Amino acid sequence: MAASDPIGVFDSGIGGLSVLREIRRELPNEDLLYVADSGHAPYGDKPAPLIEARSIAIVEFLLSQRAKAIVVACNTATGAAVATLRARFPLPIVAMEPAIKPAAASTRSGVIGVLATGRTLASENFARLHARFGADVDILVQACPGLVEQVEAGDLSGAETRALLERYVLPLLERQADTLVLGCTHYPFLAPLIREVAGPSVAIVDPSAAIARELRRRLADAVLLSHEKRAGTERFWSSAAPDQAQPLISRLWRAGIEVWSLPNAPLPG
Ligand code: DGL
Repeated sequence: MAASDPIGVFDSGIGGLSVLREIRRELPNEDLLYVADSGHAPYGDKPAPLIEARSIAIVEFLLSQRAKAIVVACNTATGAAVATLRARFPLPIVAMEPAIKPAAASTRSGVIGVLATGRTLASENFARLHARFGADVDILVQACPGLVEQVEAGDLSGAETRALLERYVLPLLERQADTLVLGCTHYPFLAPLIREVAGPSVAIVDPSAAIARELRRRLADAVLLSHEKRAGTERFWSSAAPDQAQPLISRLWRAGIEVWSLPNAPLPG
């Protein structure tokens, strides 16, 4: 691995682009690879062994593209696979998890709401976080089936998406939550709508910027920070049909980009 090699980032779909944009902001000179496993999204309703197999295959693909570090830009994949990935692949691996710690530190009502996939909320990783901070604050959890699908379909503000958000967010507010943790990387794309539904006084916590800073620290520790002076590049792959993936990724990335088909051969499932 060399400092000039790229960083590999993946998610069950396009949600991890919310993490990628923070990585781009934090590390403007790094080359970035992004895999959207949209052909298999949502992960949230898949069995953990399948998510683990997908995650291994995607990391192997990213390694074949010379990735020097991996960002698991998917809370659900973190819960199902990060221990296996870390045991198997000897390179820096930074992984998303719901930002309960900062939310617990900043809540005034003492009640925080966590929006995530059911699989994230059922993971050992989440149980550990809950045990660590649940004594100090009341942690309300809300699984949000359907939201990932709405984002994957590009519906960030329509009536159906709003109705789902009202169903998931309003009961948390009724129970005095003053802080909402976005525990799924698709949800930051819904933040404007969540803000409308929740009102101005509720804090919305997205850990993506903190993850980007952690990535910088990990690369610095491993002496893998790029020395390039030029702007970094991005390359995108998707397991969905490229003609579907390309317009949506371009829209969310706010640039006309090319999306490559993720090769099928090395990917189980
Ligand atoms: N972006 C993924 C996450 O952070 C969504 C998981 C899914 O596909 O259900 O959990």
